[in-house]
Amino acid sequence: MKKISLTGIKPTGELHIGNYFGAIKQALELAKEYDARYFIADYHALNSLKDPAELQSTIRHVAAGWLAAGLNPEEVIFYRQSSIPEVFELTTMLMAFTSKGLMNRAHAYKAMVDVNNSKGEDPDAGVNIGLFTYPVLMAADIILFDSDVVPVGHDQKQHIEMAQDIAQSVNANYGRDVLKIPQAAIQENVAVIPGLDGRKMSKSYGNTIPLFAPEKTLRKIIMRIVTNSQSVEEPKDPEACQVFKLYKLFASEQEQNELAARYRAGGMGWGEAKEELFQKTNRLLTPMREHYDAIMSDIPALDKILEMGAAKARPIAAATVNRFRKAAGID
Ligand code: ADP
Ligand code: TRP
Repeated sequence: MKKISLTGIKPTGELHIGNYFGAIKQALELAKEYDARYFIADYHALNSLKDPAELQSTIRHVAAGWLAAGLNPEEVIFYRQSSIPEVFELTTMLMAFTSKGLMNRAHAYKAMVDVNNSKGEDPDAGVNIGLFTYPVLMAADIILFDSDVVPVGHDQKQHIEMAQDIAQSVNANYGRDVLKIPQAAIQENVAVIPGLDGRKMSKSYGNTIPLFAPEKTLRKIIMRIVTNSQSVEEPKDPEACQVFKLYKLFASEQEQNELAARYRAGGMGWGEAKEELFQKTNRLLTPMREHYDAIMSDIPALDKILEMGAAKARPIAAATVNRFRKAAGID
């Protein structure tokens, strides 16, 4: 039997090429080796996204984005967290095995407390209980599906350790393996994709290249990449330039060598380099964008795909909850 992998996707904004090369592409590869499950963590997003129209459209955008990027809903299980009520039943059960002290140590919560303390404010200002108990909900997402591995970036490592701690407390209490202990698969050397200004591409810096921007917008955005003031004639260092760093993601090795040679020879201006980048980017993104637009033009069909995923997920979820309820004496 294949091992189970599970990936949670928080729908909090417009997908960009940093998300694609830094997370989506690798996560989709997992389907080859694992019995892969992917879900849209919409109740996690609710902690920070309170505008209903925005949350609704972001959920659809992100779901369509993963499908357009190649997620095959027939082969894997793809669902919305909010469609699986067992997640919340399990969350409540896990709460009884989670010490408050464990939550006090969670990085996201601690960071908010530190900021409040540094401003001399109430340490818990702006902290809702959803944020405080975020790791329990995440543990439920994972444990519910008997996940063996959870591929995540470094920032999520602590959350997986907490899921392990909580599941172990349950097993220790009942003296047997009621719940499976998940393992983190930390993605160590994922490249950091630079944004338009050279900092890490991130929606919080406003320096992104959106994954599904229309062609004209894509060109405009690429032309906005920050470069230095070297003249056209001057030879340029490709490795010191974010136009070239981005080009590497989209071009073959031969194409990379050719463009690098043009940088070093001099006589090529930044506009020309950006045009080369636009051409390559557009070549890769066009089929994905077309697929995305087609999915978004039929929202009922998209919702049906997610419902089909939920229908596959719920019996698995119910089995875990029932196992736990029996062990707990609530059968
Ligand atoms: P953002 O920084 O835009 O808010 P998220 O935090 O929502 O992005 O990231 C979602 C996923 O995409 C995470 O796995 C994250 O590591 C990855 N990711 C985001 N930006 C980049 C980037 N510039 N380079 C590599 N990976 C990235
Ligand atoms: N907390 C994760 C993030 O911010 C999203 C997430 C929610 C998740 N539940 C999960 C990831 C379960 C993996 C497994 O990116």
